Amino acid sequence: MAIQWFPGHMTKARRQIEAKLKLIDVVIELLDARLPLSSRNPMIDDILRDKPRLILLNKADLADPEATRKWLAYFKAEGHLAHPADASTGTGVKEIPEQVKMLLKEKIDRQIARGMNPRAMRALIVGIPNVGKSTLINKMAGRHIAAVGDRPGVTKGQQWIKTGGNLELLDTPGILWPRFEDQEVGYRLAVTGAIKEEILNIEEIAFYAVKYLVKDYGSRFQERFGIEKLPEDLENPDEIVAVMEAVGRKRGCLISGGRVDLEKASRVLLHELRAGKLGRFTLETP
Ligand code: G4P
Repeated sequence: MAIQWFPGHMTKARRQIEAKLKLIDVVIELLDARLPLSSRNPMIDDILRDKPRLILLNKADLADPEATRKWLAYFKAEGHLAHPADASTGTGVKEIPEQVKMLLKEKIDRQIARGMNPRAMRALIVGIPNVGKSTLINKMAGRHIAAVGDRPGVTKGQQWIKTGGNLELLDTPGILWPRFEDQEVGYRLAVTGAIKEEILNIEEIAFYAVKYLVKDYGSRFQERFGIEKLPEDLENPDEIVAVMEAVGRKRGCLISGGRVDLEKASRVLLHELRAGKLGRFTLETP
């Protein structure tokens, strides 16, 4: 799903999440492990305030493991509990209830001290489009999937999904807008497919990807596309075009006269990159 965000949409999204916050104990904030800051909502702290929060670096299967380690340390230093996950296979997902329990320990202990049976912990999943919210909900629901039904104080139609480990999820995640403040961020989001390609120019996105690949993952890139010589000056557009032409020739993206179809080559490159064919990569470091 790709949404174009306008100020009105943002206000509405924020209000919807704020209404849901009243119903839950904890927020599971999903970030893309390949670009944790660019995939983070710029107003998230202001929206969530002091609500306990678990940060999930999702799609960690696609990210550079060394960079993910650095990001986990970064979020820990920020005072957050953070955890890597791959919602599509379920790696790192079964640990979530235990971590939520750690976050809510004081609250649960208080309930027990008062002789109460601790009720199910309730969570809301939030994140920008395409970060894996629905995938995570389905994975956490697993065969436990069951709507608990309306409860007092719950907006009609709002359903709770039971997961293992005494944790319930609101069935509809909170959808947040990504950072847009600078073009770099836009390109990074576009490289991973988080924002619509049509918003930006496909060749520009691919050019951005090439610069990044050459800089940080040069030998893999060179090997995959059989590129003889990597550009030396990444600020020289001619050198980037030459590399893209090599990619296009390798993949048969040709137009009449044997010229390379740069648009097609750009699509192919981004497709292979997103599909993990160039290995695991991270587009930003703390
Ligand atoms: P959203 O609700 O936040 O908008 O995201 P959604 O779950 O729809 O996931 C968006 C895409 O990301 C899906 O791929 C999904 O399979 C993929 N995805 C989610 N979590 C992970 C993960 O941890 N690792 C990897 N590798 N992929 C993940 P899609 O191409 O849109 O659909 P499909 O190929 O699954 O049909």
